[in-house]
Amino acid sequence: MNILPVSEKFGELYGPGAELFASPGRINLIGEHTDYNGGFVFPGAVDKGIVAAIRPNGTDRVRAHALDLGETAEFGLREEDKPAQPWARYIFGVCREMQKRGAALGGFDTVFSGDVPLGAGMSSSAALESTYAFALNELYACGIDKFELARIGQATEHNYCGVNCGIMDQFASVFGRKGCLMRLDCRSMEFEYFPFDPKGYRLVLVDSRVKHELVGSPYNDRRASCERVAKVLGQEFLRGATMEQLDAVRDRISDEDYRRARYVIGEERRVLDVCEALQQGDYETVGRRMFETHWGMSRDYEVSCEELDFLAAVAEECGVTGARIMGGGFGGCTINLVRDERYDSFIAEAKRRFNEKYGHEPQVYDVVISDGSRRL
Ligand code: GLA
Repeated sequence: MNILPVSEKFGELYGPGAELFASPGRINLIGEHTDYNGGFVFPGAVDKGIVAAIRPNGTDRVRAHALDLGETAEFGLREEDKPAQPWARYIFGVCREMQKRGAALGGFDTVFSGDVPLGAGMSSSAALESTYAFALNELYACGIDKFELARIGQATEHNYCGVNCGIMDQFASVFGRKGCLMRLDCRSMEFEYFPFDPKGYRLVLVDSRVKHELVGSPYNDRRASCERVAKVLGQEFLRGATMEQLDAVRDRISDEDYRRARYVIGEERRVLDVCEALQQGDYETVGRRMFETHWGMSRDYEVSCEELDFLAAVAEECGVTGARIMGGGFGGCTINLVRDERYDSFIAEAKRRFNEKYGHEPQVYDVVISDGSRRL
C-alpha cells in the first residue's frame, strides 16, 4: 500500500499532523451471494487495500483528496451536502451513517490511495468505507464496535451508492486476520477464524480485467429474486430452505427466480461441505465445490460472463483443483486453488490462451491473507 505518497501529499496539501489508517480488500473462498440470504460466507482480507491520512481540521467541512485520481472534493456533513464525485460519496456516506448512530464528527482533511484493483471483485469500495469508519471511530472516540463499523460501510452502499449489498465485504475488511479465513454466519453474525495454510496448494486470482456494465442494477435484481422466493416460502431468508420446499412452490414463482434460489440453496450446502473438508485437509473436495459454485453462478444465478467461464474452463483443463468466479460477478476475477506443481504451467497457459482469444493478458495476483482495519 502507498503509505509514503499519501503522507507526503497530505503534508503538501494540508500540512503536518495526519494519522494513517488502512483497510484491506478481500477474497472469498466460497459462499457467494449467500450473505444477503442469511447464509454463510468464507472470506479473508488481502494484502491490498486503502490507506488514508486524516486529521480533524476544526471546521464543519471535509476536504478529501483521491491521490490515484488526482481529484479533490469538499463537502459539509449534512444530508444535503452530498458530493458529486462518486468516490467522495463513500466517505460522505460513512460520515452520515456514523452521525445517524450518534457520532459527534467534525470536519477533517484527508488524502487516500489504494492498490485494490478496481472492478476485480476484491471489494475496493468496502476497503474505502472500512478505512474511514475505522479511522473516524478512533479519531473522534465514538466507541462504535467493529460489527457496527462493518454495518456502517454496508449502509453507505445501500443509502449513498445504490447497491443493496450484504455484509461480507465490510465484515472481511474490518475483521481480517493474517493467515486466517473467516466463516461468518450472516444470520446470527457469529464467526470463526480458520487458519488457512493449504500445504502443497496455492490460492491465486486470475483477473480477466473485464467489467461488464449491465443495464440497470443486476446485483439488486438478484437480491430481489431471492427475497421474492423467501417470501413465498414464508421465510425471512432463503437460508435453511431445502430443494424439496423450493420444488413445492415452483408453480408460484418464475422460472428465473426458481433458478436463482436453486443456486443459493446449493451454495449453502457447499460452504458447509468446504468447512468440513478443510478440517480434514481434503483440498480436492474444496476444489470440486469451487467448480460447482462457478457453474451454478454461471448457469443458474447468471452473474458470470464469457471471459470468466473461459478462465474456469481453462483451469479445469489444466488440472487446477478448484476455480470459480469470485465476488458479485459480471466481470472481475476467478479464484483458483492450484497444486504447487501445476501453478507455473497453469498461469502460463491461462495467460496465453486468454490473450489469444481476448487480445489482452489477465492479471495474476497471489493471495496473501492479511490483517483487517488498523491504525498504521
Ligand atoms: C458483493 C457484495 C457482497 C456479496 C458478494 C457476493 O461483493 O458486496 O455483499 O453479496 O457480492 O457474494
